[in-house]
Amino acid sequence: MLISVLGAGYVGLVTGACLAHLGNHVRVVDIDATRIERLRQGEVPIHEPGLDELVAEGLAKGRLSFHADQSATHGTRLVIVAVGTLDGDGEWTGALVERAVAMLAEDPQAPRHLVVRSTLMPGTAVGLERLARSIDPSVRLCFNPEFTREAVAVRDFLEPDRVVVGAGADAEDLVAELHELYAPLEKPILDTDLTSAETIKIASNVFLATKISFANELARLCAATGADVHAVVDGMGLDMRIGRSFLSPGPGFGGSCFPSQVRALPALARSVGVEAPLIASVDVSNRGQADWILDGLERIRGGSLAGARIAVLGLTFKAGTDDLRESPALRLAERLVARGAQVVAFDPVATERGVALLAASDVQVEPASTAEAAIAGADAVVVGTEWPEFRQLDWSALAPVMRGSVIADGRRVVDVDAATAAGLTVVTLGVAHAPTGPEPAAVAVPIATVATVA
Ligand code: UGA
Repeated sequence: MLISVLGAGYVGLVTGACLAHLGNHVRVVDIDATRIERLRQGEVPIHEPGLDELVAEGLAKGRLSFHADQSATHGTRLVIVAVGTLDGDGEWTGALVERAVAMLAEDPQAPRHLVVRSTLMPGTAVGLERLARSIDPSVRLCFNPEFTREAVAVRDFLEPDRVVVGAGADAEDLVAELHELYAPLEKPILDTDLTSAETIKIASNVFLATKISFANELARLCAATGADVHAVVDGMGLDMRIGRSFLSPGPGFGGSCFPSQVRALPALARSVGVEAPLIASVDVSNRGQADWILDGLERIRGGSLAGARIAVLGLTFKAGTDDLRESPALRLAERLVARGAQVVAFDPVATERGVALLAASDVQVEPASTAEAAIAGADAVVVGTEWPEFRQLDWSALAPVMRGSVIADGRRVVDVDAATAAGLTVVTLGVAHAPTGPEPAAVAVPIATVATVA
């Protein structure tokens, strides 16, 4: 099928490249001419495993092309709208989607079949459809949400659990086209109305965010009672009704989706006069998690982090991506500075950008060129992102060059046996592991004491 995609961001690029891989001819359109030029050369502007290969494949086979002009949508069967939905403050907005839909409806040569893939708050699509059809009654509109995670987006697209198609009025032909488009995936396709499809998307994300926050609060509870939160979530996860995924505690969830959506959904509830105290509390819980981790570190270091040199490992919102948006690792760095610490940070893919982003908010952090360079001379280490290379750190070589001896591991990636054997104290989400080496570090704190205070 010859189709077009409006927007060459994460969603648009992954959608376009994957649909080309499935055998379609896809024209990706974006107003950013520089981005389009780079894409034409096969340069993918985002760090997304597998995407470079799919873009190269699409270009080589002549099935994927990039355009800076909306006229490239002319003559295509349908256009997928995948433009941004965050405003300058990182909050959800439907403004760009609305502009794109209006622009397409006003262009009689553009397809009359519009598929919105940008995330919409429930109730938005009906308004978009009304707007488009007030411009041209022959327009048909569907909402087809994406459920792809950054860092595994290509796999999530090609092997989804489900495809959801929310259909507008009289959109049977468009729905049939979407079924044809997704048929090669051989996955269940759920047909709904527009608002239900929007709600499935948002509710899925907010539910996952709630699950993470539940695990984060359990970590706090377990640290106080002496339970091992990791054993607890493993045990809970074996119950098929609960499941283990998205139950890993950490420094809080980040990224461009969960944080903005856990704020937008309660706002929507309020706007329609519905009380949703559970949903409204998720953001509050999430924001407190970084400080809870740092409270533990502060106590183990005698009650203050003022003047301490702290190495922060990882700045992106999770491993495998270069995305820094609402990263809990950045929040850890920012909160450390607020507590008077001197922070030196390293991230395998985003040190400079992360440090610059913090500086833009007046948070001064020193960049390091390697994890080892960040750790050398540090009073303590804080792990903010679960990059696999942090598992391989040679603590026997690093412990002697550190000034202090504590690691606050917010992601459970530190090799605890190796670190404690090297004389370091590792606090993994509130649970402390004391040094086991022949010469325990002087700052060793009894596990029970740490566990109750951290
Ligand atoms: C999320 C959803 O998982 C996707 O299904 C959805 O399509 C996407 O948002 C979107 O709406 O576009 P994403 O934000 O890329 O995907 O990242 P996730 O892998 O979901 O992780 C979000 C945050 O939760 C990260 O900071 C991660 O470290 C954290 N997390 C995740 C935990 O702290 N614990 C967990 O057990 C899982």
